[in-house]
Amino acid sequence: MRLKSLFAKVGVWVALGAIGLGGGSAVGQDKAPILIGHYGSLTGSEATFGQSTSNGIRLAIKELNAAGGLNGRLIELKEYDTKGDPKEATNSVTRLVASDKVSAVLGEVASGLSLAGGPVCQENGIPMISPSSTNPRVTMVGDMIFRVCFIDPFQGQVCAKFARENLKLTKAALFYDQKAPYSDGLAKEFRKAFEKLGGKITAEEKYTGGDQNFKAQLTKIRGTGPEVIFIPGYYTDVGNIALQARELDLKVPLLGGDGWDSEQLGKIAKQAIVGSYYSNHYAPDQDDARVKEFIAKYKADYNGATPDGLAALGYDAAKILFDAMKRAKSLGGKDLRDAIAGTKDFPGVTGSITIDSKRNAVKSAVVVEMTGDPPTPKYRATVAP
Ligand code: PHE
Repeated sequence: MRLKSLFAKVGVWVALGAIGLGGGSAVGQDKAPILIGHYGSLTGSEATFGQSTSNGIRLAIKELNAAGGLNGRLIELKEYDTKGDPKEATNSVTRLVASDKVSAVLGEVASGLSLAGGPVCQENGIPMISPSSTNPRVTMVGDMIFRVCFIDPFQGQVCAKFARENLKLTKAALFYDQKAPYSDGLAKEFRKAFEKLGGKITAEEKYTGGDQNFKAQLTKIRGTGPEVIFIPGYYTDVGNIALQARELDLKVPLLGGDGWDSEQLGKIAKQAIVGSYYSNHYAPDQDDARVKEFIAKYKADYNGATPDGLAALGYDAAKILFDAMKRAKSLGGKDLRDAIAGTKDFPGVTGSITIDSKRNAVKSAVVVEMTGDPPTPKYRATVAP
């Protein structure tokens, strides 16, 4: 009996192998699934970053596979949890590249974690696309590293412009995470742009991600009389900071970058975050046909959940990878790299995406305001590069 089933299996295997001999397309002769990797924070204080990204990637894979895959080859995903930790990020990418032998890697969200994983892809010649890391250094790691989002010098300008021109404010305080490259970098970019527009920075205070008590710094900030506080942090810290600011009777609007983007922000901060603003890659309530279609598909797959910017960017990053795989001479690192570099006017949910010579995307940003109960982001403005 056992022998018979073994023969049966071998038979099936031989048959599949034979089918695989046909073809001859760019993607290759064989019909085995194409393995791609994703590393993201699926747990920890930035858990929604990895979860949303994963949802977006999976939706893109599902659509492609339902349509027959890439020249008949299905896409298969290997995914590891970075837990928001740089060492785990390096280990995850090493596993994807060395053991799983993926063709390409998607991730990370947080710039500090992309900076930890990127060098492994670069050294091994495997293309990596970060959906959402905005710190300029991320793609400077080397020619294998791409992103499909804008970068922080632009995002800093967007926030400064919004504070000066839309809100008409001149005095801003800075409060940022000194250990996160994203936060530290965006604070500097905001300062530069805000001062250039005639604004004044009244205070510069720092925290470390995961801190629980922010009152000493917030008290100092309060003493300098700012009209707005720029907090380019991640959502869990920002939520806690907002709660403590209001407890200290600090009532001015808070302003931040894409790191605020999580449904958890409104749940943590509740009414303390109402009337505050952040810049982002997309807004679910934008009047845009492509956005609406994406939201409908995402809701159908994920229990009616509204996709955040990370879900949209994960979806776009995966689709850009598949588009490049279709055009690539082979799935070998260099050929695939060249195809990704050739991405032009790709119609993404987060805007039209062209990869520039530094492997970044040049795109518009949106500004959203937190309103409602529980507070959720509402579209307020689009800022073009
Ligand atoms: N831009 C952030 C970073 O570089 C990550 C992020 C993107 C977070 C989009 C939320 C939404 O660290």
